Amino acid sequence: MTRFIDVHSLVRLVDETGVAEFLAALSDALRDDFLRWREFDKKARVASHSHLGVIELMPVADDGAYAFKYVNGHPHNTQVGLPTVMAFGVLAEVDTGYPVLLSELTLTTALRTAATSAMAAKALARPDSRSLALIGNGSQSEFQALAFHALLGIEEVRVFDTDPHATDKLVRHLSACTPLDIVRAASVADAVRGADIVTTITAYQGHATVLTPEMIEPGMHINAVGGDSPGKTELHPGVMGLARVFVEYEPQTRVEGEIQQVAADFPVHELWRVLLGEVPGRESPRQVTLFDSVGFALEDYTALRYIQRIATERGIGQQIALVPELDDPKDLFGLTASGRRRAVLRRAA
Ligand SMILES: NC(=O)c1ccc[n+]([C@@H]2O[C@H](COP(=O)([O-])OP(=O)(O)OC[C@H]3O[C@@H](n4cnc5c(N)ncnc54)[C@H](O)[C@@H]3O)[C@@H](O)[C@H]2O)c1
Repeated sequence: MTRFIDVHSLVRLVDETGVAEFLAALSDALRDDFLRWREFDKKARVASHSHLGVIELMPVADDGAYAFKYVNGHPHNTQVGLPTVMAFGVLAEVDTGYPVLLSELTLTTALRTAATSAMAAKALARPDSRSLALIGNGSQSEFQALAFHALLGIEEVRVFDTDPHATDKLVRHLSACTPLDIVRAASVADAVRGADIVTTITAYQGHATVLTPEMIEPGMHINAVGGDSPGKTELHPGVMGLARVFVEYEPQTRVEGEIQQVAADFPVHELWRVLLGEVPGRESPRQVTLFDSVGFALEDYTALRYIQRIATERGIGQQIALVPELDDPKDLFGLTASGRRRAVLRRAA
């Protein structure tokens, strides 16, 4: 049988664990998997674009497990009462192809994206970073703030969104569940001024210029999350020229990331190499570092395996017949009414 984790089961897993603890465990698991990067069969995700958004399939595998995520990105969705990003995914055994887990991945995507952002910032931001500017206060934003607070020791969050209701919601949640100092900024420039780390996590179907070169200060770490598909970016191209740039999987990010706006040979470094100590991360306290995040399948593989482990330990989720359970593995027809009738007739004869 296949374990099925719906949204309610995932919420139970997160609530029983605690959001900060879940983020910390996920961040450790992500680091372990990034450190064995060479063991994975990797490919850029398969994207299906329309004028309003994108639907993507994200596969990855190692010798033991295969994972894929279905995910969309539709910035206008919130106007029709749907989230911008929705997702689900599957974990399967490589040796048999048997799907062991079918799980919600919408909430999980927010958790794994925040855990990945924090993992990257731990390797790239100045260790004395205490303030975070958070531009874009939608679905992903609380998870980002919590990850940076719990995993990097961020004490102040400077928030801005073009939609004041989104900021109201973020401020309400963060003040209820964290001791963070929250500053409501009047503009992007106001939020970014003096911040050690800047996260951009906005949704706009086009080339936005949320951050411009004159906003960037020496020593900043930029965590650019919202530009994640062709024609959908957040940074003025001049920002890249000011920074040492890091990516998840270069072949995918060249097409989908902020670096789609610069020359094809613009120098970037894959994050796993920094984690393994093969290339330097930040080279000086005044250097600007930029994590051009688009989301890579390995992050969902890690999340699915973590969910499978803790759900099994705690007996959470349903067992469902996603594929047939057969007495005779060659007798698929026996499942149908005609096949069952023949079996009854055979037994009666
Ligand atoms: N890189 C990754 O791994 C990854 C993972 C998940 C989501 N994302 C992307 O992150 C973005 C945010 O996702 P979400 O689920 O929070 O979306 P959301 O629609 O819930 O929130 C986006 C927010 O951005 C705000 N916004 C739009 N333009 C802005 C601007 N110029 N300045 C300030 N605020 C602005 C909107 O008002 C909205 O509140 C999306 O673009 C999504 O595709 C990336």
